Amino acid sequence: MAYTEEFRAQAREIMERYPEGKQRSALLPMLHLVQSQDGYITQDGIAFCAEMIGITKAQVAAVSTFYTMYKREPTGDYLVSVCTNTLCDVMGGQKVFDALREYLGVDHDETTGDGKITLEHAECLAACDYAPVMTVNYEFFDKTNPDEAVQLAKNLRNGERPTPTRGAPLCTLKEMSRQLAGWAEDREAGLAGNAAADPTLAGARLAADAGITAPPVDPEVSLVKKEDAS
Ligand code: FES
Repeated sequence: MAYTEEFRAQAREIMERYPEGKQRSALLPMLHLVQSQDGYITQDGIAFCAEMIGITKAQVAAVSTFYTMYKREPTGDYLVSVCTNTLCDVMGGQKVFDALREYLGVDHDETTGDGKITLEHAECLAACDYAPVMTVNYEFFDKTNPDEAVQLAKNLRNGERPTPTRGAPLCTLKEMSRQLAGWAEDREAGLAGNAAADPTLAGARLAADAGITAPPVDPEVSLVKKEDAS
């Protein structure tokens, strides 16, 4: 895999976000940058990060294999993640996953032959109030069901980009990886999405109706805790 001078300049731009001597902190966004070009964390990408930052390939590999957002195999344009953690499972998450597995003909962490979709089980996606949930390239499709999930997958394979329930419009996994590397969303609609829908705000609304507020922060207590911790 050849990395152009332009690509190297982007890697240097990431490193410059961090204080002198702390360049290894650039590894996480740099891995996303590699993924935005290669589609997954290739061996060449690992060597590139090691060379740029001045650490060993083993150190890069240790980090990249720890986080599930870094993919070890070629990954589809659309990463479909189905939450099968406790609450989503109770609400039908496993049935959603099973329906997609049957329709797509792939299992966990596998990609369809056309290279369009990678399917994966996901742990809690921090959206339990919309269970069962699935994401496509980390954008949410809330309160889904097997029929809706299969239709969504069909639409993706037909070249459509269905609108997520919340957040930004869909992009490809490579485009999403570039955003995660720190380059801002350049589509106007991508910044207009609303992340907090009604179920998320229900608790705050109940608290407001009941006149319940958060207890005040005692700065002395915070100070003592900080000192204890140091
Ligand atoms: S259990 Fe599925 S989002 Fe939390």
